[in-house]
Amino acid sequence: MIEGKSPYAFIVGSQSSSLATEVAHLLGCEAVSVYKKIFDDGETRLRLPITVAGKEVIIFQTITEQPDAVVFETLRMVDAAKTLGARTITVVFPCYPYARQDRELQNGCDIPPKLIAKLLKTAGADRLVTVDIHAPRQIDDFPLPTYNISTEALFAEYLKQRTVETDEILLFAPDRGALLRVQSLAKTLGCDFGWCDKKRLTDGTLKFANFHGNACGKSVYILDDRIDTGGTLITVATRLKQAGARQIVGIVTHGITSPALLKRLKTAGLDEIIETDTREVIRDKNFVEVLSVAELLAKELKKLNEVHSLPW
Ligand code: R5P
Repeated sequence: MIEGKSPYAFIVGSQSSSLATEVAHLLGCEAVSVYKKIFDDGETRLRLPITVAGKEVIIFQTITEQPDAVVFETLRMVDAAKTLGARTITVVFPCYPYARQDRELQNGCDIPPKLIAKLLKTAGADRLVTVDIHAPRQIDDFPLPTYNISTEALFAEYLKQRTVETDEILLFAPDRGALLRVQSLAKTLGCDFGWCDKKRLTDGTLKFANFHGNACGKSVYILDDRIDTGGTLITVATRLKQAGARQIVGIVTHGITSPALLKRLKTAGLDEIIETDTREVIRDKNFVEVLSVAELLAKELKKLNEVHSLPW
């Protein structure tokens, strides 16, 4: 057992990441991994490796793969922390699991992001913290306080530092869902923006239409909350290149997690990807720029701790 004077007990799930270590460091505590033993039949035994009684417990879960297993692991960690007398329990999902399925996509579909929030509350979580959740409005329906941190300032600062002339830039939304974020960032940067419509057909293929904005001769920055197969980014980039874009850069919060995807993006002619470390992302210094959300997360967690420590 590692004991300390910090108000926090910072426990990291089994898909640990350098982000967790960095956030804990900024909070002045240590990130300690949950103890996990896997039995022959696939069942697991979990144990919280530090004292949680009376502490502000942070359960930090980076989800790079196997989201179902991670969600269940999180529920068990929360339940254990509650049973052991945690003062408060904050679950941090830098990339919220299943966030894209925030509405009934087809008749009969469930809505897993809300279910996850409900189960976490039932297990004993007091609040959730996440980053750039797909469709931010969905957290209004969650049954526990949920804080969605925006990366806009992080990207804006970075782009301002490296941009000479904003009139050479076009910020682009690859679907209506990304348009609000694009408009807001374009306003901060003082540059033009464009957008298109995206429709996912029942066979899973994507259809893009109604392109707005003048890409000719511009450095086009396509902004999206996440990248999965790369289909969205690659198709839109190809269309914008055909429209005369000089350079295409993808900006995504939840970035590239597989070498195969990295290769696909390079082959498709994208010039660069700017992403964050909300998942365990693939690094490639000639093609990928990774901005850390550690400071944003630490700041939010400190703020929450201060607010909830006030005497009533
Ligand atoms: C969905 O609407 C999201 O905002 C992203 O556009 C989507 O997840 C990207 O997925 P993919 O890389 O597979 O096109």
